[in-house]
Amino acid sequence: MSEFQKIIQAAVSRRTFLKSGANFGLGAFALGSGMLADAKTIDGVDCDIKNDATEQLNSLEINNVPTNTLDAISLPDDYQWYPLISWGDPLFSDVPDFDEALPSQQQALRFGDCNDGMEAFKVGDKTLLAVNNEFVLIDNMFPEGITTAQDIDQAKAGFGISIVEITETESGWQPVLDSSYNRRITMQTPMQLSGPAKGHALLQTSANPAGDITLGTWSNCGAGRTPWGTYLTCEENFHYAFNSSSDDYQPNALQQRYQVAMKYGGIDFYKFDQRFDVAKEPNEANRVGYVVEIDPSNPTSTPKKRTALGRFMHENAEVVISKDGYVVVYMGDDKKGEFLYKFVSTAKYKSNDEQANQDILDNGILYVARFGEADDTFSGKGEWVALKYGENGLTAANGFASQAEICIKTRLAASHVGATTMDRPEWVAAHPNKTEVYCALTNNNKRGIKPNLAGDEMSTNGPNPRRKNLYGQIVRWRERNDDHTSLKFDWDLFVLAGNPELHDDEHRGSDNITADNMFNSPDGLCFDTQQNLWIQTDGNYSNQGKYQGMGNNQMLLADTNSGEIKRFMVGPRGAEVTGMTWTSDKKTMFVGIQHPGLGAVQSTFPSGGDHMPRSTVIAITHKEGKEIV
Ligand code: FEO
Ligand code: CA
Ligand code: CA
Ligand code: CA
Repeated sequence: MSEFQKIIQAAVSRRTFLKSGANFGLGAFALGSGMLADAKTIDGVDCDIKNDATEQLNSLEINNVPTNTLDAISLPDDYQWYPLISWGDPLFSDVPDFDEALPSQQQALRFGDCNDGMEAFKVGDKTLLAVNNEFVLIDNMFPEGITTAQDIDQAKAGFGISIVEITETESGWQPVLDSSYNRRITMQTPMQLSGPAKGHALLQTSANPAGDITLGTWSNCGAGRTPWGTYLTCEENFHYAFNSSSDDYQPNALQQRYQVAMKYGGIDFYKFDQRFDVAKEPNEANRVGYVVEIDPSNPTSTPKKRTALGRFMHENAEVVISKDGYVVVYMGDDKKGEFLYKFVSTAKYKSNDEQANQDILDNGILYVARFGEADDTFSGKGEWVALKYGENGLTAANGFASQAEICIKTRLAASHVGATTMDRPEWVAAHPNKTEVYCALTNNNKRGIKPNLAGDEMSTNGPNPRRKNLYGQIVRWRERNDDHTSLKFDWDLFVLAGNPELHDDEHRGSDNITADNMFNSPDGLCFDTQQNLWIQTDGNYSNQGKYQGMGNNQMLLADTNSGEIKRFMVGPRGAEVTGMTWTSDKKTMFVGIQHPGLGAVQSTFPSGGDHMPRSTVIAITHKEGKEIV
């Protein structure tokens, strides 16, 4: 037995919440089998559809799709797909169809680029799809390069969010051109800064001395939805938009922690728009990195940046209502050695009073996760540590003079309280009927090798047990007393991804990984109404070396009771599979295909022929019209 196996075995034997007699065999990163049988049902809110299912499926009734490197969507035989909407498709009838010869034209009136997280909303008898457009592919949008202010304006309009009404026709779901709900939210859309940091000196700029109104949102990665019908979009890699016109500019400690002004390549927004020049507007970067709340049912509403939920590189925002009625939001910060958070509202959610919920995300307590007890990170226990002014050393003497500062310098506050450094927390998904929550920890090739950006140690620990972690894992925890507001939790690893064809050590993965279902870099996570967990990957698609046999990025389906995982879909070449939601009849699943053809691979997805590859939301249905899994 390797040292690693001994550690895991020791961890397993101490895990107090595994009361169901799970059988951990010798291979035994045997996590993810037969746990949590005594969990109670709660009135949870699923990430897409309010859940009313009580049955527990014990097997996944699909055929496992073999891995491949085709430039295609591969599904089980009983399923089919079609493209719903692609980058550049018009949202209005007076906008010409996408033209590959003029790919950057009228971006603000078209579906944005690089779709990511999304949610479907029912508004009266209408179905609206809100979709993040995380970034733009410069080479595709600007084959001649970005040279003019007008190019910059078009690039800004390719980022953000697309809200589009869709309708079901005889040939499937289609966008409704000219719907009054169709809307683009871009890097230029006015939005309110709200919550504790509103108006703080660190949010004040020359264009907005009051520090309460900002322009735009970008790098919108994962998403979320609230029970009161709003969309949450999460600002992730916002730092790439900033740069400095001065070679002598020295980023301060706050900017360094958020990697602002580090001289990235990419789009030189700063050359055309001063607010992206940190030498001239050092506070502009403090006005991004938040969760933004949008009301898709009101096309003239102003989006609100909810600073109470903290500032970091947000992945998604998973909302649940606790058994006592508080709004709880789980969130990850996707950078090596960053942290896992949850927010608990001060007020209770009022299901019969939509107005009362409008600003409920402005007041509450933000917590960060600390796994383990004392020095034993493998104990299977953990706690939520409050990032609250005046507590846990978060005082003026230590650089946190108010709650507003904690909301702006969230990463620094989390480091200060000794939060557990994680292997890049991506999506968080809450089980619809248990107080069990899952987070994809995508990978971290620096684990066990060097500290994080802040110098916090990044040696191997309980939930992040592998040095030089190339494949990633999914951690899950159960809140104590089956209460999402609890400050204590029990955890284990649902799966350690790996390559059992290549490795005999910890990198072969947990027992529920086989040669048939292997993958790397779990990212998107969401439960469906059958209480199965969908897993999307954003990994290495070279199909070579350490990734031999894994093929293109993919989407898998997991039974969290048995630990069984099957591959449901393989995506096209060079694409990430990210974002998923369902129609209210559950007969159509929308899945995001982001940046086909990125890197050293050729793709013509979805149009084929010799067409340019385009990020696309696809629709998947069962051939006999059954509900999708
Ligand atoms: Fe945009 Fe962490 O993925
Ligand atoms: Ca992601
Ligand atoms: Ca990712
Ligand atoms: Ca991506």
